[in-house]
Amino acid sequence: MSIVSLRQISKSFSHATVLNKIDLDLTKGAFTAILGSSGSGKTTLLRLIAGLEKPDTGTIHINGRLVSNENRILVPPAQRETGFIFQDLALWPHLTVYENIALGLRIKTDRQEADIAAAIGKMLEFFGIAEHQHKYPGQLSGGQQQLVAIARSLVLEPKLLLMDEPLANLDVKLKAKIRRQIKNLTRQFSVSIIYVTHDHHEAFNLADEIVVIDSGSVIERGTPEDIKNSQNTFVREFIEV
Ligand SMILES: Nc1ncnc2c1ncn2[C@@H]1O[C@H](COP(=O)(O)OP(=O)(O)OP(=O)(O)O)[C@@H](O)[C@H]1O
Ligand SMILES: [Mg+2]
Repeated sequence: MSIVSLRQISKSFSHATVLNKIDLDLTKGAFTAILGSSGSGKTTLLRLIAGLEKPDTGTIHINGRLVSNENRILVPPAQRETGFIFQDLALWPHLTVYENIALGLRIKTDRQEADIAAAIGKMLEFFGIAEHQHKYPGQLSGGQQQLVAIARSLVLEPKLLLMDEPLANLDVKLKAKIRRQIKNLTRQFSVSIIYVTHDHHEAFNLADEIVVIDSGSVIERGTPEDIKNSQNTFVREFIEV
């Protein structure tokens, strides 16, 4: 079964078509990159999967469950077992790293404090941020904040994690470091990841599968090797830049 199935998904904003009859099945347990230039519709696609927008036409299934259909959100974002990490991380500035990660568990589960502490400890250790657990987001570097945002989503054990250009604001060195940390998330946490980027190096480096989109349509889909060897003129030009 696919983690996400899109059928004939279209979306327009004020008569401009942003997504055009997208059909896509994304593999469960895979790290899938959505690759495309600015304005190609990547964020819109992610927002539809998250349930923050409704499609004009078509259906969206997550893990076999119908979550949206024509003009309707059937399952709201909080019930999609999906985490999202958008570019503005939206960490709570008045809560420590530990409390930021704990908040979702406290609100969404009735787990005991010891249990919560164990789950958070695992995240802090995995991402190498235990030493920062009592700091506030304002006392962290951009990269460390990024890791806290990812930890905060993962601790809720989502089936699907949506990431929208999460490394866009980081310098080259930090990008490389965090890439290494997120590359194996699908193996370590049995989560499926959809990762939006306009950077083909990032897609090649991280993804099991890549979906190239342009002007709201899927141009090609394949492994990084497939995309590197693509015969499609658009794809070849896009990855040459
Ligand atoms: N809420 C909205 N209202 C009107 N137009 C919108 C809205 N959201 C997106 N658009 C338009 O849809 C098109 C695709 O936007 P989208 O944000 O999905 O692109 P993107 O691929 O994520 O681009 P980028 O790489 O710059 O983030 C753009 O032309 C954008 O202006
Ligand atoms: Mg975007």
